[in-house]
Amino acid sequence: MSRVTLSRYLIEQTRSNNTPADLRFLIEVVARACKAISHQVSKGALGGVLGSMETENVQGEVQKKLDVLSNEILLEANEWGGTLAGMASEEMDKPYQIPGRYPKGAYLLLFDPLDGSSNIDVNVSVGTIFSVLRCPGNCFSQNDSLGDEAFLQPGTKQVAAGYAIYGPQTMLMLTLGDGVMGFTLDRELGSFVLTHDNIRVPHSTAEFAINMSNQRHWDEPVKRYVSELLAGEEGPLGKNYNMRWIASMVADVHRILTRGGLFMYPWDAREPEKPGKLRLMYEANPMSFIIEQAGGAATDGKQRILEVEPTSLHQRVPVFLGSPEEVERVTGYHKG
Ligand code: AHG
Ligand code: MN
Ligand code: MN
Repeated sequence: MSRVTLSRYLIEQTRSNNTPADLRFLIEVVARACKAISHQVSKGALGGVLGSMETENVQGEVQKKLDVLSNEILLEANEWGGTLAGMASEEMDKPYQIPGRYPKGAYLLLFDPLDGSSNIDVNVSVGTIFSVLRCPGNCFSQNDSLGDEAFLQPGTKQVAAGYAIYGPQTMLMLTLGDGVMGFTLDRELGSFVLTHDNIRVPHSTAEFAINMSNQRHWDEPVKRYVSELLAGEEGPLGKNYNMRWIASMVADVHRILTRGGLFMYPWDAREPEKPGKLRLMYEANPMSFIIEQAGGAATDGKQRILEVEPTSLHQRVPVFLGSPEEVERVTGYHKG
């Protein structure tokens, strides 16, 4: 049986679904960067890449060495190819400008270079999340610098999204808006090989993911819903639920794509002015696009995440995503 590599899949998409050649090239380059990040992550202590920097990012979070290195790998891989008008990252306050010596292109790339940083030093799965938007208007031909506004588009405008997970296997999960495909890195070939064709999230589930230590800070609908999950067979939902929390969104979402489940990171009262922990533009939007493309659902408790109108590059959003039956239930509880 001949193996379908990511490159071949993308070429076939270009032929059959009119995926533009520049988008294909962009995805190829992101995948190449993810391979390089995977390589660095796998070195661990041998590569001197574990531990923290003495810096904080724009969100006031201490940066890990691998956060910074992964960000640099993505920027360097993607700046020269001529497909991008700019990039935005969790690790950078402002959009990254394509250097004047390189051609510019029609797309915007947004990423969380390394998701699950708290897991790096303990050898638990981490990943890279990315989202691709079109640069509105003629922004790529102008000489001025690219501002935040170009990026502030709702998730429904994404033309592609994906994540790489660096776990026991390195995998790349990708949507171009026509289902979700999963590729596993064959380290001997050096290629991502299609291993999971048209992934579907089961409609129902008996597994949920939430950081229970924040329970006392949640608002009433989430408290009610989780107490019903915990009540199991004797409670109003009439079935027993299992719980998993990896604390790497990529790994929790990957489990949900594989066997179903519900992922929640709700608003909580620890920092009441912030609407949640996860970032809309490069965590919630790409993951919601992938989950919806696999037949799942994603809301902020009130509306579809993909329809949230962004107001700032690093804005946060509550997240409920996964098997539709449970996403709909918990969203319904917010509506009263
Ligand atoms: P990042 O490492 O990019 O800052 O993201 C971490 C996120 C997400 O991956 C995970 O679901 C969540 O933070 C875990 O948060 P807690 O530590 O509060 O459980
Ligand atoms: Mn993250
Ligand atoms: Mn991160």
